Amino acid sequence: MKELLLNLGRTIKSIVVLTGAGVSAESGIPTFRASDGLWENHSIEDVATPEGFERNPSLVHEFYNQRRETLLALKTSPNQAHSALARFQNIFENRHHGDFTLITQNIDDLHERAGSPDVIHMHGELLQSRCSQSGLKFNQLKPLNVDSICGCCRTLGNLRPHIVWFGELPLEIPRIERALTTCDLFVAIGTSGQVYPAAGFYEQAKTCGAHTLELNLIQTKSNFDTQLLGNASDLVPSFFSELASSLELEAF
Ligand code: OAD
Repeated sequence: MKELLLNLGRTIKSIVVLTGAGVSAESGIPTFRASDGLWENHSIEDVATPEGFERNPSLVHEFYNQRRETLLALKTSPNQAHSALARFQNIFENRHHGDFTLITQNIDDLHERAGSPDVIHMHGELLQSRCSQSGLKFNQLKPLNVDSICGCCRTLGNLRPHIVWFGELPLEIPRIERALTTCDLFVAIGTSGQVYPAAGFYEQAKTCGAHTLELNLIQTKSNFDTQLLGNASDLVPSFFSELASSLELEAF
């Protein structure tokens, strides 16, 4: 890591971080593709597609209601990885005048709870619902069901979880593409790299000249410039703390 940080040096002005389920795993939120992951026990077609929602909205609501309940449970809180990202962004932007873009595939709000501002939730947010007709979004802390009445059109059945399902377009892609083409460092944390377009972001950044770094519990098949293996709650604070020192920013 020392060599990497030396090579990156003080030239870093723009950083893009992409997080996946692995960053929230140590907060008790299950990942998707582990042997006990969400997709082992649920069919994607049934709970994560527009067609599944059309066929059986109750089942889909129940799936996301359970996940919302887990997220809102008292014991679910951000871990060291979320906190380190928020702290680093704060000093990088305020002391170094750098650009820091945090993109997450996660639908939880743990980055926000750790203090990260302006998180790009490319796959939506669990604590929001939206009207399937107007697209208007609402805060959603309570369970949703087929009897929920939409706050904008007052119609039954129009409210859906604000989640990007398979076959739908991820959110904020133009903003993401702009950040990818101008960053000096791209860091992917806790994502298996199996779902596009997010899985292709590191290649886009690399093509535009960024150094690409992966932090993951296990070796993935992706071809990053540097890969560091371990738990996000260890790797993220240590990497960003050393990066802060090498940029002569205060350590944290
Ligand atoms: P996955 O479940 O596919 O992958 C989780 C990754 O996190 C794996 O590579 C693990 O090795 C790693 N991991 C697990 N625990 C970790 C830890 N403590 N520290 C570091 N890494 C750890 O989740 P995603 O890649 O986020 O999309 O999945 C991408 C998308 O697939 C999700 O956003 C979701 C899903 O289908 C939609 O629902 C649209």
